[in-house]
Order: sequence, then C-alpha cells, then structure tokens
Amino acid sequence: MEQQPGRSTPIVARSRDELADARRRLTGEVSVVMTMGALHHGHATLIRTARAGADHVIVTIFLNPLQFGPKEDLSRYPRTFDDDLEICAAAGVDVVFAPTPDVVYPDGDPAVLVSAGALGSVLEGRSRPGHFDGVLTVVGKLLHLTGGERAFFGQKDAQQLVLIRRMVRDLDFPVEVVAVPTVREPDGLAMSSRNTYLAPSDREVALCLSRALRAGAAVAVDGPSAVRRGARAVVVEEPLALIDYLVLVHPETLQDVPEWFRGEALLAVAGRVGTTRLIDNFPVLVGPGGGALEVFTGSGP
Ligand code: PAF
Repeated sequence: MEQQPGRSTPIVARSRDELADARRRLTGEVSVVMTMGALHHGHATLIRTARAGADHVIVTIFLNPLQFGPKEDLSRYPRTFDDDLEICAAAGVDVVFAPTPDVVYPDGDPAVLVSAGALGSVLEGRSRPGHFDGVLTVVGKLLHLTGGERAFFGQKDAQQLVLIRRMVRDLDFPVEVVAVPTVREPDGLAMSSRNTYLAPSDREVALCLSRALRAGAAVAVDGPSAVRRGARAVVVEEPLALIDYLVLVHPETLQDVPEWFRGEALLAVAGRVGTTRLIDNFPVLVGPGGGALEVFTGSGP
C-alpha cells in the first residue's frame, strides 16, 4: 500500500487486500464517491458533500473499460492521477482505491453483468449500447468492495443516477444513494472531464446546451410542450452542436411526459460538439410555480 506523506494525504489502495485493510481501519460511517479520475471542481464538490455527512470518505478512481464501447476511445480519456490525489487530499479523503482492470476483473471480462434493462437502452443507452450494463456492473462491484453506507453521484449523469438508484432498490444493496447537484462553470457549462477535449471555439458552441435547458425551464409553468419548444428554439440556432436528443422525461421512467403532466420532470440534452459528446440536464418542475429545480429529489432509497 502506498502511504503518501502528509497528515491529510489519503491512503492509496491498489489491490483488494490493500482496500480491505484500509477499510477495516475506518470506524464510523463511510461514504463512497466513484470516479474515473480526471477529477475537477465538480468531483471536489461531490467529495466534500460526502465528507460533510460521514466520518470517512473513500474515493474510487477506476477507468472502467466495461462501460466504453468499441468505437469509444478509452485510451483518449484523460489520466491525471497525481492531480486527482491532490484534489482528494484537499477534500479530506481517507482512502483512494485506484485499481487496475485486472484487480477489478481478475477473470477478464465478467461472464455475468448487471443488466440495465429497458431503462438502459433509452437516451444515452441508445447511442451507447451496453454502456449502462458496464456502469452498473462496476458500481455494484465497487459498492461491495468499499462497503460504504452512502454513495454519492452527480446529477449531471442523470440516467446513470436513475439506474444506480434502481439497481440499489431492485437488488437490495445496503447503501443509500445520494444525488449531488451539477456543478457548473460560471458561464453555465456543466463541469465534465470531457470538457478538456473542447477547443475554445467548441466551448462557445457547447454553451447552447445549458442555455437551452435554462430556456426550457423558464417556461415550465406553461407545460411540457412549452418546455420542449423553448429549449429547441435555442439549439436550432446553433448548427455546430449536433443534437442527439433533447427531451422532457419522467425522472424515474425516463419516458417522455405527456402534455397533461405536472410535477418533477427531467429536461435532458445530449449532443456532439466537435469530436466531443456532451450531456446536460435540469430537473424541472412543470406546472404551477414551475421552473428549474436545483436537484431531483424524487423517490429512491
Ligand atoms: O460517472 C462515472 O464517472 C462512472 O460512470 C462511474 C460511476 C465512476 C462508474 O465507472
């Protein structure tokens, strides 16, 4: 086990044994934050939120090959371990679990996966077949290995959050899933490790995603069509953003909400800017008093 010097520097566990050993030494409530590295301010907020309500925090840094499709370039994903460790140290992390794929998948690709089912084949799942099976499988494994009481996930990956909540509920994982609101750049761009791929001109284009969400949310009092129309009016003005979907869906079923729908819905968008696929979403209250909600607080364990 690499014990880093310094009082607040986390223990770095690379193997299952090292993690188990470090875990045994943590007494009290443990929260877990799972990441694929390339940590940014959004992750730091997740970690700090987790830290605030627990005695200890474990952060996992694992670039999970199972959730990348054959056409998605895993080798291009940013790797910034030393910087990640600094962010973890500053945010008060106790243990960083940073395994290699052979530690997580000692027998190679697992023969049995957690299936995301129908919920995993819409929206992101439509463009990324098998992605959510890979996500749920690794999240399930990391929940077992870290054994935290609470696990924190960003609202930014809304469909992932919905699926993890369902997995935890449907498969009786003894963990509470906590959603943390999306952290944005001052100009509204949702923070993401993928933003590093954006050229300065792409970045300008990318802003149309959050602008569209804001525009849609602003007319939420008028019902679903108004929200969809308001958001679409913004993205059509930006031909360099190739929109994959822009939807107003139920926050648990991820199905389009009908025109009579009133209540919490998810306004979600995905698109390609340059070579980078970006996603964003706003939880929105549709109907009287409507507008953007800070974070989806719907049902779930
Ligand atoms: O959101 C992510 O970074 C990943 O999908 C996760 C949850 C760490 C699983 O690999």
